[in-house]
Amino acid sequence: MDTETNPKFKLVLLLCLFLKSHISYGADSICMDDVISGDSTIVSAGRIFEMGFFRPDSAPNYCIGIWYLKDPTRRAVWVANREKPVKLASQLRMSDGNLVLFDESKLPIWSTNVSSSSATTTTRSVQAVLLDTGNLFLNDESSPSEPLWQSFDYPSHTWLPGAKMGYSKINKTRQILTSWKNSEDPDPGIFSLQLDQSDNSFVIQWNRSKNSWRSGPWDGHIFSGIPQMRVDYVYFFSFVSNKNETYITYSMKNTSTLTCHFEMDVSGQINQVNWLPTNGWNLFWSLPAQQCEVYAVCGAYGSCKSNENSLLFCHCLTGFEPNSPIDWKLKDYSGGCFRKTKLQCETNGSSVELKSIKQLTIIHLSLKYRKWTLPLCSELSC
Ligand SMILES: *[C@@H]1O[C@H](CO)[C@@H](O)[C@H](O)[C@H]1NC(C)=O
Ligand SMILES: *[C@@H]1O[C@H](CO)[C@@H](O)[C@H](O)[C@H]1NC(C)=O
Ligand SMILES: *[C@@H]1O[C@H](CO)[C@@H](O)[C@H](O)[C@H]1NC(C)=O
Ligand SMILES: *[C@@H]1O[C@H](CO)[C@@H](O)[C@H](O)[C@H]1NC(C)=O
Ligand SMILES: *[C@@H]1O[C@H](CO)[C@@H](O)[C@H](O)[C@H]1NC(C)=O
Ligand SMILES: *[C@@H]1O[C@H](CO)[C@@H](O)[C@H](O)[C@H]1NC(C)=O
Repeated sequence: MDTETNPKFKLVLLLCLFLKSHISYGADSICMDDVISGDSTIVSAGRIFEMGFFRPDSAPNYCIGIWYLKDPTRRAVWVANREKPVKLASQLRMSDGNLVLFDESKLPIWSTNVSSSSATTTTRSVQAVLLDTGNLFLNDESSPSEPLWQSFDYPSHTWLPGAKMGYSKINKTRQILTSWKNSEDPDPGIFSLQLDQSDNSFVIQWNRSKNSWRSGPWDGHIFSGIPQMRVDYVYFFSFVSNKNETYITYSMKNTSTLTCHFEMDVSGQINQVNWLPTNGWNLFWSLPAQQCEVYAVCGAYGSCKSNENSLLFCHCLTGFEPNSPIDWKLKDYSGGCFRKTKLQCETNGSSVELKSIKQLTIIHLSLKYRKWTLPLCSELSC
């Protein structure tokens, strides 16, 4: 883990003393009197990552996120307030030794939530630094390399190089990647990835409970179910297990030529994406390899058809329609489908209307045996 060296930290503190209001000068940290609001951001020292407010295309409200500075689409690699998006008039600033997001009514919406007892010195000396690894690091002037809190401990949907995926045997915490609710809503979705404590394999869970995919055990070099990890010229994985913690981490062989990371995608797949200067983020590989191998990906009464050319993998069974067409459009198929040929009986005097082509035969029946119409309808409806 890179941390700030002392001289650098002093410089930051000096900057903090001189530039107290809004930060838009490219600082890499948020100090006591700084405020991130509107379009102000902080940028890591080596100009790799940027943090500030972002909003997916169709979303009405904003989240605090971290993205690659070179990425004009601001595709987030970490999201703070994913469950509670806010208006742009909100403020991210230090408060009582924590980094806190206040909404436009000045109510705290999200916080690093470090208990004040763990802050050894005064809360004025605590600051949040965005590192070149993409880790947001909360530390104190007295021991700048000791994290009071770090975003790498609380990943959202992305596993960045240098971050750990595993669990602590001391404080019982673990890292879990959780998919977005849909392609434009960072709210935690239905798929999640973690290292399974029982056999130290990666597992994708559906709805936090049902294991839907497993990587196979670590064989000393790779996970047996992930031959793609053998791509030696791209990255280097390491598995660490000691009395304090068990985790796997990786680094890129050459960060100057490759920018890659893993994402728990809305599709229920782990995607490895890489950045190409010419056309942005590209899919390198996915696991499971086929979207249709993902457990329950199309929800109830949905069916999955692999089609290389079509983005729409999920279809409703004949006679069914998506429960939520909007979510389907945004690639959240979990709502499944409902039967559209619902029998609708409306009696008006002696006439019976049945609004379904499939039920024409029943209309004939009902005209013939008018007396039986009502019981027949109510029995058949749905
Ligand atoms: C902070 O922690 C408290 C207690 O652990 C919890 O109730 C609260 O929701 C947390 N707040 C945030 C913003 O995470
Ligand atoms: C839990 O312990 C691990 C080391 O085992 C440490 O890296 C991490 O920061 C700790 N998390 C919390 C929330 O204290
Ligand atoms: C997910 O699990 C919760 C209970 O943990 C349940 O209420 C919910 O209906 C489940 N979601 C789906 C889509 O089955
Ligand atoms: C385990 O944690 C203790 C206390 O935090 C620390 O002193 C020790 O070096 C750690 N051991 C390893 C193997 O990381
Ligand atoms: C990374 O790639 C660049 C361009 O190909 C090359 O000049 C550099 O030596 C490489 N660095 C390492 C550590 O391999
Ligand atoms: C029922 O029939 C009456 C007159 O025949 C008509 O005014 C009314 O709109 C009908 N109601 C429905 C629900 O079709």
